Amino acid sequence: MLPAEVALRDLPLRPELKGEKPYGAPQLDVAVRLNVNENPFPPSAEIAAAMGEAVRQAAAQINRYPDREATRLRSKLARYLGYGLLFDQVWAANGSNEVMTQLLQAFGGPGRRVMTFTPTYSMYPEYARNTHTGLITVPRRADYTVDLPAAWEAIDTLKPEVIIVATPNNPTGTSTPIGVVERLCRATQGIVIVDEAYQEFSRTPENTCLRLLDHYGNLVVSRTMSKAFAFAGGRLGYVATSRAIVEALRIVRLPYHLSAVTQAVAGVALDYAATMLAQIGRLREIRDNSILRLRHLGCQVIDSDANFCLFGRFPDRHAVWQGLLDRGVLVRETGPEGFLRVSTGTPHEMDKFYAALAEIVAEPGVLKPAEGSPA
Ligand SMILES: Cc1ncc(COP(=O)(O)O)c(C=O)c1O
Repeated sequence: MLPAEVALRDLPLRPELKGEKPYGAPQLDVAVRLNVNENPFPPSAEIAAAMGEAVRQAAAQINRYPDREATRLRSKLARYLGYGLLFDQVWAANGSNEVMTQLLQAFGGPGRRVMTFTPTYSMYPEYARNTHTGLITVPRRADYTVDLPAAWEAIDTLKPEVIIVATPNNPTGTSTPIGVVERLCRATQGIVIVDEAYQEFSRTPENTCLRLLDHYGNLVVSRTMSKAFAFAGGRLGYVATSRAIVEALRIVRLPYHLSAVTQAVAGVALDYAATMLAQIGRLREIRDNSILRLRHLGCQVIDSDANFCLFGRFPDRHAVWQGLLDRGVLVRETGPEGFLRVSTGTPHEMDKFYAALAEIVAEPGVLKPAEGSPA
């Protein structure tokens, strides 16, 4: 028996979870939140009303389980993606985090391994841990691009069942050319997941790995409605892949995993795709401008194809993060040593961010001089 006031340490928790903390960036109530790469523009009143009406209709039948196969929604997602895709080549879940966990449930597991290219999205190790899958990390090159010879060597020697490459990569914003993904697909019998969570923000969004789906049955292209679609609160992630991989995902998914409300509201967002996505061009401009402004402040900035960028280098990045927070601006302390990540906000939010950062870097020693410049 355990007492009602039992402590976590007294529970029979899996050993590898002992001492682990729940994942997540701080959710703080500050004026300017630029820490989780959300789209800063909410849906219009018209779209919000249409979503409300869809919820009302779903509520009228909420005594029934939802469509387990989410067929209508998957058809809409397939149509949105294009490339002749049909619903049975698309799978959806509550955020791409859930779809990717399902992929590892299906193709990872005890005695199997997933390979990633670091630095990269900090949830990948958690998917591996939660599915008892071993993790192989192949460091990216100094410019944060994928090191293909190192990847081939790891594939040859360690034979991972799953490879994940994020493009544009989080947190660096670096894109991986389609040709590199194609060479990975050819080099392995395993599953290659391309995480295109930020693809719509790329300078060349048409260079998507969706183009490769006709050629490689082991390729999965993962997308999310959280970023470009301004639908982070709706929780909808999805993949386009071969029919066989969709079949595998249907084996591991929990029944009725996508609620009737989620399916209905995401369906409305897709009906209004053009309006929901209308701000992307503007966000790209704000991102490009933010890279220039950060460089003007003396920061080193990594060129980004996503809706965020890494800036630094700070001998004490935590102090800079705290300094920004003290001024009402929340960014993310993540990525390579000495860097911080800032999401692309509204022009007003970005002005607040620069003003706060300018004050902080005006202090001597806060910013490390760029390599090659006089100390
Ligand atoms: C590279 C990458 N993949 C996936 C996700 C997860 O997105 P979702 O909100 O769909 O779970 C994120 C979220 O930040 C991300 O950065």
